[in-house]
Amino acid sequence: MDPRKWIDVTPENFNYSLDHFVIPSHYDKDLESILIPHGVIMDRVEKLARLIVNDCKGPLVICCILKGGHQYFADLVNVIKKLTTKDGHSIPLSLEFIRVKSYHNDASSGDVRISLTEEECQEFKGKNILIVEDIIDTGSTMVKLLKRLEQYQPSSIRVTSLLIKKTPKSNGYIPDYVGFAIPDAFVVGYALDYNEYFRDLDHICVISEHGKQAYAQ
Ligand code: HPA
Ligand code: MG
Repeated sequence: MDPRKWIDVTPENFNYSLDHFVIPSHYDKDLESILIPHGVIMDRVEKLARLIVNDCKGPLVICCILKGGHQYFADLVNVIKKLTTKDGHSIPLSLEFIRVKSYHNDASSGDVRISLTEEECQEFKGKNILIVEDIIDTGSTMVKLLKRLEQYQPSSIRVTSLLIKKTPKSNGYIPDYVGFAIPDAFVVGYALDYNEYFRDLDHICVISEHGKQAYAQ
């Protein structure tokens, strides 16, 4: 198997009931199932960090896509900074944070807002950039962000996303490093939100109808 290939999350190989793990009691009725337990996420992050470092040729600017990417970013950077390349070098890292917003309830608004000033963008020139995202759904947010960053002539841009959604709405965009391919359902937890709720849940879970209604805006 290609070691770069993501883990395919299907009901046959991932089927955890809410009773199998601890979830915060304030979300008791708001979740349908646990899709990826926190421990499995952490084990996968270790491998993704290894793949990224193996491909690394010099200093890296790691860009966190806020807010959803913050947990994956934090855990990934923690592993990357302890690893060395095949010839024994550690990798100089600098960290950037970009706020991107496009979702309202469980649908993409189509209008992608990217918080980057001209001045911040100029800093990317000639650098090796790694973008860290929580999820690729339709792919349109990432395609817009990449177009914007490419204008500032970085030396390279790679993208890692913890999740990619198997959805007919996909524009076909696939990141360089993917953790898990998930079914076409709205997921929350591990910093992924529904109208800002559920970021305080460790496992990646499918939201229930009750949850969607309780936190709708
Ligand atoms: N969950 C949370 N945020 C998202 C999702 C999702 O399934 N898809 C796109 N952004
Ligand atoms: Mg997001």
